[in-house]
Amino acid sequence: MKVLVTGAAGQIGSELIQALRDRYGNQNVVASDINREAGEKLSGSGPFEYGDCTRYEVMKEIIQNHGITTIYHLAAILSAVAENNPQLAWNVNINGLYVMLELAREFNSSLFTPSSIGAFGPTTPRNSTPQDTIQRPTSMYGVTKVSGELLCDYYYQKFGVDTRGVRYPGIISNVTLPGGGTTDYAVEIYYEAIRNKTYTCFLKEDSYLDMMYMPDALNAAILLMETDSKKLKHRNAFNVTAMSFSPKEISREIQKHIPEFKIKYHIDPIRQGIADSWPKSMDDSAARMEWGWSPYYDLEKMTQDMIAVLKKRFQSS
Ligand code: NAD
Ligand code: SER
Repeated sequence: MKVLVTGAAGQIGSELIQALRDRYGNQNVVASDINREAGEKLSGSGPFEYGDCTRYEVMKEIIQNHGITTIYHLAAILSAVAENNPQLAWNVNINGLYVMLELAREFNSSLFTPSSIGAFGPTTPRNSTPQDTIQRPTSMYGVTKVSGELLCDYYYQKFGVDTRGVRYPGIISNVTLPGGGTTDYAVEIYYEAIRNKTYTCFLKEDSYLDMMYMPDALNAAILLMETDSKKLKHRNAFNVTAMSFSPKEISREIQKHIPEFKIKYHIDPIRQGIADSWPKSMDDSAARMEWGWSPYYDLEKMTQDMIAVLKKRFQSS
């Protein structure tokens, strides 16, 4: 098995690389990104290739040279950045995915790519959002995500490419900062709670969104890719979630560890508008039934871990 991870320097990629290298061997997992500086740090434990996923010839050479059999395609533009630069988001999220699907078809490779809670919109049921439901997103990020889901389904049905994917909620982690999304507040709040005991949140106190801690997000990707293909009915765009909370609730959880912590609010209308169009909580029973998805971390366990890890890091620096 030879694995390629695009967008490997990002929030998810930088941790998925290590998880895959631990599992399949350092030399069997190739990291790739256009962020050369961050990417080169990944070259300490295995191969790194500079590569723009929208460029067919560049990506073809990487896949050919390394004999890639499995692609985790993570290169993308996240929701808030996409809303500020919709043309860039379309190019990377759609043309980049198209290039990687074409190469997966040509080289008989399997392909995992994440969709998102952003693939839903204001007309989607917001509570216990079903696996199969109305998808009319109003953000450019959402438009690219729902189009990507359809494109992955098409490549499976038309060409038999083994495409698989999940709809990730907001991912919370402590290694690499998030890349410009609407759920980024739920990462920033831990860093600021430890450094400054205060955080100014760009979403309203009662904005509920689905979230997940990074170890569960990595498990979801690897478990889905290792599942016997015959068990999968949906293949792409499985709803997966671990918890749903609001800024007020996460701040109360942090106060259990840092009683003097205070949250303030200064609403960003763009990101608030995006959050208001996304599910408050998804129904992930299809993932649970088809490939045994089950998260470990809830808000309490995640907060304990985030605070312990970050306290240790900031105290020693
Ligand atoms: P990120 O923004 O942290 O990282 C994306 C990476 O892609 C960056 O390292 C960037 O340099 C790279 N990149 C951008 N344009 C590129 C190009 N043209 N060619 C090659 N690389 C390029 O994103 P992430 O949070 O790690 O997200 C990974 C995937 O998961 C994306 O598809 C995202 O939509 C999805 N997702 C993430 C979250 C989350 O909360 N992090 C939630 C839902 C879905
Ligand atoms: N965390 C991501 C974002 O906010 C969700 O896809 O863009």
